[in-house]
Amino acid sequence: MTQDRKFYTDANRETWEEVADRHRAANQPRLLQEVRNARYSALDPVLIEALAIAGIADKQVIQLCCNNAKDLISVMRMGAVRGVGVDASPAFIAQAEELVAAAGLQSCMELIVSDVYELPDRLKGQFDIVLITVGVFGWMPDLPLFYRVIESLLKPGGHFVIEDMHPVLLMYEPGKDGAASTLQWSYFKQDPWRDTEGLDYFEHEDYEGKPAYSFMHKLDDILMGGLGVGLALRHFREIDFDISHFCQDLEQVEAKPPLGFAMVMEKPA
Ligand SMILES: C[S@@+](CC[C@H](N)C(=O)[O-])C[C@H]1O[C@@H](n2cnc3c(N)ncnc32)[C@H](O)[C@@H]1O
Repeated sequence: MTQDRKFYTDANRETWEEVADRHRAANQPRLLQEVRNARYSALDPVLIEALAIAGIADKQVIQLCCNNAKDLISVMRMGAVRGVGVDASPAFIAQAEELVAAAGLQSCMELIVSDVYELPDRLKGQFDIVLITVGVFGWMPDLPLFYRVIESLLKPGGHFVIEDMHPVLLMYEPGKDGAASTLQWSYFKQDPWRDTEGLDYFEHEDYEGKPAYSFMHKLDDILMGGLGVGLALRHFREIDFDISHFCQDLEQVEAKPPLGFAMVMEKPA
């Protein structure tokens, strides 16, 4: 980290705000219909398996970096009783509010605009499950502090459930216009990436955008970060499909790298 944490989180919030209307156009009309279904789920089987280990029925769940909250709505459809979604971007939280209303879940869900590093104290110790889904660790400039936040949100005996991009996937640069993705970055990269090509990962349209700063967190840092705040590892699975749509061609290559991972950690009771 060459700048302080807030420099990165403030800059990234502006970059997410900038892309919000593009994501809305790509997804919101379809999602507004889909979430009405009482069996709606945006979750893949690997994440469902991880959530089942934590147990969902009657649980209080907080999702950090929830974006439009489609994953949190899916968790509510699995039987959770309270869902709190947090995202730094007001524009994405506005999309989440529309989806929660369309799903009819306003009475058991709350959406909060906040940097995850600056959450209100009232949330501490409230949750059975802290959830993050694809595309979160890479936005965190300070991983140890992120883990302290997660630990503080959990009740004793609560679980941290994760599905995210594998750090090995972040070593690749996506190919443009049908070209193959290429290995380009060190697994041990320490300085952040600074990208100005926008975050339109649904339509894959590049545009000159505000800077996005993202970070390589190695698997040992991800594992040791959790153990370092006293969480115990309960489950770990590597994923061979691209949950991020970042380098989808890698699903087909002969020498396939790990593309994602799911993990469950538990706070001692
Ligand atoms: C890749 S998206 C997450 C997508 C989500 N997993 C899904 O599938 O819908 C990352 C989200 O993290 C949010 N974010 C990034 N840094 C954040 C921070 N410091 N605090 C809160 N939210 C943050 C962004 O606004 C964005 O909505």
